[in-house]
Amino acid sequence: MNKDFVSIADYSREEIESIFELTAELKAKTKKREEHHICKGLTMSMIFAKPSARTRISFETGMYQLGGYALYLSPNDIGIGKREAVKDIARVISRYNDIIMARLFSHDHMLELAEYATVPVINGLTDYNHPCQIMADIFTVKEHRGNLNDLKITYIGDGNNIANSWINLAAKLPMHLVICAPGGYEPDKATLDFAAQAGLSKVEVLANPVAAVKDADVVYTDVWASMGQEAEAAERRKIFMPYQVNSELMKHARKDAYVMHCLPAHRGDEITDDVVDSKQSIVFDEAENRMHVQKAVIARLLGRG
Ligand code: CP
Ligand code: NVA
Repeated sequence: MNKDFVSIADYSREEIESIFELTAELKAKTKKREEHHICKGLTMSMIFAKPSARTRISFETGMYQLGGYALYLSPNDIGIGKREAVKDIARVISRYNDIIMARLFSHDHMLELAEYATVPVINGLTDYNHPCQIMADIFTVKEHRGNLNDLKITYIGDGNNIANSWINLAAKLPMHLVICAPGGYEPDKATLDFAAQAGLSKVEVLANPVAAVKDADVVYTDVWASMGQEAEAAERRKIFMPYQVNSELMKHARKDAYVMHCLPAHRGDEITDDVVDSKQSIVFDEAENRMHVQKAVIARLLGRG
């Protein structure tokens, strides 16, 4: 297996499914409060160049449950790529810790970190992708639906890091994936080409939300302005308002369609209160599963599971 977990694109379908088997095992143990210190004595540095709730809490708690220790490095601590070169910090941390988790702006910095670190690197989000999130998301869909057969996922909103990771997943697991974004906010072209070349899934980019959610099993959205795009928030709000996931739009999806959002949600913008709090919403299950999936990724990369 790859040394690092930087993109779903680097993993085979078998490896992804095997991570999910380990996830289910570790989740069951966690629920039963059965000790599973398979990473006893191992340590993980968590580098955060951006804010976080779920990623920090789930990784730190997960590492503790595995018997290891995780240390949080805030945006003020390392200054990766500014105070110190990425390759230097990669080599330094590799002398202290067994594994690194990082949330960075630049995806190139993530690749450089993985290249120069002698220990595994897990991507906890970059401007380009968010692989841990989408692994947790699809695991959640499978838990709720029982299988992933004939699955239609519609992602509505900005063609951002979340959209790119969904497309990478569609290159590995068969699905019908629709990305619905306004002109100029489509996802990464090279990633779309990658999924098209894989030839496993039907991946469409549409501009009309009503057409996009038709027959969808999952309607997924994310913030319109990602971390780092705060200055564009007002302008984006105007452009994206027709892409809001509200009860009117949900009428055009399957009656039993699941609603998903990686969170944090900007209630009243990309998703309305009634939809995010509806029975169809599984947003907190997906948030929970971040921890279970990431524990499996950590254990697998460390050769402990
Ligand atoms: N979904 C997610 O990654 O949440 P945080 O930004 O709070 O970590
Ligand atoms: N697209 C969002 C995801 C947050 C988990 C962002 O990058 O801010």
